[in-house]
Amino acid sequence: MTRHLPSAEVFIATSFDGYIARPDGDIDWLTSRPVPEGEDFGYAAFQDGIGAMVMGRESFEKVLTFPDWPYKTPVVVLSRTPEKVTVPDPLKDKVRVSGKGPRAVLEELGARGVARVYIDGGQTIRSFVAEGLVRRMIVTLIPVLLGQGRPLWGHGAGDVNLTLVSTRHWENGFVQVEYRA
Ligand SMILES: NC(=O)c1ccc[n+]([C@@H]2O[C@H](COP(=O)([O-])OP(=O)(O)OC[C@H]3O[C@@H](n4cnc5c(N)ncnc54)[C@H](OP(=O)(O)O)[C@@H]3O)[C@@H](O)[C@H]2O)c1
Repeated sequence: MTRHLPSAEVFIATSFDGYIARPDGDIDWLTSRPVPEGEDFGYAAFQDGIGAMVMGRESFEKVLTFPDWPYKTPVVVLSRTPEKVTVPDPLKDKVRVSGKGPRAVLEELGARGVARVYIDGGQTIRSFVAEGLVRRMIVTLIPVLLGQGRPLWGHGAGDVNLTLVSTRHWENGFVQVEYRA
């Protein structure tokens, strides 16, 4: 089965102190920040070739508060109690909820021919990192210290050595680092 494992990839923004959201899940500190005209920080290029997305139930619930569903690829929402997660009717052909673990979800997607999977949500990313499944990470540092919040890091499974691919920065203070694991 392992030969079918797709590349699990992360594209996420964090505060300089490593948080992806405030304790209550708020991301206004990220979304309301001024950005250079027309700049997407490489997001469209990253998404090109992504065959599926795997996100945590908390991230899914946050995205449901957005005015529009932002993803073109199929989405798998992870939950340990999948039967309790409600998918709104208009999203039922785009989103499915799974109680499977990281490796099993990737194997399933690989068997369907997916080569690259976008992993999102802090707890979810950590659970993929802990199993050694994340191959590529693009992290954009936002120039703010939140002091508290929902962390990106802390997988608790030993060292993961990373190879630097690129760094970029913008005049608004965003700094982006890409590593391969
Ligand atoms: N800054 C950014 O770029 C960015 C990007 C994405 C998200 N966010 C924000 O981050 C917050 C969500 O992140 P989060 O770390 O709190 O949570 P998350 O990873 O989105 O979701 C956590 C939930 O996902 C399920 N889950 C995660 N790993 C699992 C596994 N291995 N197996 C089964 N289920 C698993 C569990 O659901 P159950 O509790 O149902 O079992 C867990 O409680 C939101 O506020 C979102 O807006 C920010």
